[in-house]
Amino acid sequence: MLKLAVLISGGGSNLKALLDAAADPQFPARIVCVGSDTDAPGLAHAEAAGVPTFVVRPGDSDSREEWGQVLAAAIQEHGVGTGPEPGLVVSAGLMRILPAGFVREFSPHLINTHPALLPLYPGAHAVRDALAAGATETGVTVHIIDEGVDTGPVLRQAAVEVREHDSEEELHERIKRLERPLLVETVREIALGELDLAGLASR
Ligand code: GAR
Repeated sequence: MLKLAVLISGGGSNLKALLDAAADPQFPARIVCVGSDTDAPGLAHAEAAGVPTFVVRPGDSDSREEWGQVLAAAIQEHGVGTGPEPGLVVSAGLMRILPAGFVREFSPHLINTHPALLPLYPGAHAVRDALAAGATETGVTVHIIDEGVDTGPVLRQAAVEVREHDSEEELHERIKRLERPLLVETVREIALGELDLAGLASR
């Protein structure tokens, strides 16, 4: 059974989708902890499901690297990234760039979901950037995290049409409707060994 640590910053609808999927005993992964950089409202989804949560604030550390070390230790306390089974860290709406030391600690067992068709529109404002560029199509990408910003190997993508007069919120909500099942499916494939993270990361 693959152990998951999920990291969030916001409402946590992707986390909720993973929690719902993992509630099925047939699902090949379970969520052992949920962490955040802030008092994210989405932590309540984990609490309701009886999953331990923690908050590691960057402001409580002297540097980004140190923040990454504290975050890594909090995850490892729950048995992810230690021992013979590597587990998987899922960044599902964590709005921080993970420091290089953290990435090296968990790589390649570290994935992110991003609301655009990478390599287009990386960064914190992907939906806004797609609208500003006049894109007629955008979407979602689930990828392995490397030391760049949204640059790691792509695992799965799904496209979403941009409609005339779409607001950022409307478009993001339509992206998330595809994103949630895509993330769940990607985690399932990783857990079943159908996606070889080490092989993909070394290409
Ligand atoms: C998701 O759309 C995720 O792709 C995005 O934040 C949203 C979180 O939604 N992440 C990024 O933009 C990271 N650059 P949620 O809190 O409802 O799961």
